[in-house]
Amino acid sequence: MQTGDNGGREQWGSRFGFIMAAAGSAVGLGNIWGFPFQAGSNGGGAFLILYLIFIAVFGLSVVMAEMTMGRMTRLNPAGAFRKLGGGGWPLVGYMGVFTGFVILSFYIVIAGWTIAYMWFMLSGVLATPDAEALTSTFTGLIGSGANPIVLAAIFMTLTAGVVIGGIGRGIERASKVLMPLLFLLLIVMALRAVTLDGAAEGIRFFLVPDWSKVTGATVTAALGQAFFSLSLGMGALITYGSYLNKQVSIPSSAAIVVGLDTSVAVLAGFMVLPAVFAYGLNPGEGPGLSFITLPAVFAEMPAGTLFGFMFFALLFVAALTSAVSLLEVVVTFLVDETKFGRKAATIGASLVCFLLGIPSSLSQGAAAINVFGMSFLDAMVWLSFNLLLPLGGLFTALFVGWKLAQRAVEAAAAEGRTFALGGAWLFVLRFIAPIGIAWVLIKGLGIL
Ligand code: PFF
Repeated sequence: MQTGDNGGREQWGSRFGFIMAAAGSAVGLGNIWGFPFQAGSNGGGAFLILYLIFIAVFGLSVVMAEMTMGRMTRLNPAGAFRKLGGGGWPLVGYMGVFTGFVILSFYIVIAGWTIAYMWFMLSGVLATPDAEALTSTFTGLIGSGANPIVLAAIFMTLTAGVVIGGIGRGIERASKVLMPLLFLLLIVMALRAVTLDGAAEGIRFFLVPDWSKVTGATVTAALGQAFFSLSLGMGALITYGSYLNKQVSIPSSAAIVVGLDTSVAVLAGFMVLPAVFAYGLNPGEGPGLSFITLPAVFAEMPAGTLFGFMFFALLFVAALTSAVSLLEVVVTFLVDETKFGRKAATIGASLVCFLLGIPSSLSQGAAAINVFGMSFLDAMVWLSFNLLLPLGGLFTALFVGWKLAQRAVEAAAAEGRTFALGGAWLFVLRFIAPIGIAWVLIKGLGIL
């Protein structure tokens, strides 16, 4: 454990370790499962362009804002808002911790499916291009009651195992191995997909926008996707920033993390969409794209079992490092704010998340558990994408832009350095991000 100038709080061992952990948080199911199916359902290239605009305009600035708040206070999200702002501001942090529970509860369910799919790939259950058979394998798994719950429990346990190890020996060590592995797998897979016969049509679909498919809902989906993908709006990066030493430049680290996250989403698009087109399948299948449509692609592809297994292994690894960051938000909060030690906090928080995950899992066919007219799992996704994360991002931008202002610019730079573009950063945080996010949020909720 390295303590350095951080008053006894553990720190990331190196800048590389911090970047891998933050990228590990960002790169997850959102990029590899979510992004391709959202692009597939929302006009391909049009969704890509909106997503890239949101990442560049709001994403990077808010990532930097969160990391800076964390490093300035060395505290969890609630503690950070309390120390820097007081008044009602800690509520934003509490909302972030709550969001961590909400997201993790459905995240472990979907991640659990990837475990089954690695096994299905190897056992040959998926070795058929027949859409009906593949659909019934998928609905059979997710609707089978106990099995997916056990898988979610296994995934939650693995996540807790990493978090119990702490920042350096748990999260950093795992991320430094898993993230490079993930990039490698992804590049191999994307190269395979774009060189398939008939891939060109999928590449065109992904790169050439079809604006006729874009509605208000598409714009909201692209913003929610951008926030979710960057792990923004719930204090995950405040939490990771709180373990960062002062020698590291936040603007350049944030730019690398955002660049890596965006590249993975785009590469995942190149991996999935050309393959779907090459085999004459429909890219607009929604959430089933990875679990129903892709296995049909693998069934027809030479060495498909191997590539299929690699794909689900990729999803699993990406999900693990993200789930770790979600749990770490809650654990850091409990360790900072209560008397719980890391181990007790991790076990307690994992149990609560797991219990909250049970209705999500059951709502996928085993039992009719509906909220707001959708399945419990969809409702949790909707709540975090369309409300909690954008709201958290909005308040964070306002807080850092107006309340911290110049202090944040100084704190973002590496010790003894200055942040030359600080003025532009504050301008985005003060005006562009809040107005843009508020507008999309209001539209998305159907208020206007
Ligand atoms: N960024 C992760 C993904 O794209 O799957 C999900 C996520 C992780 C969201 C951590 C929020 C968070 F705090």
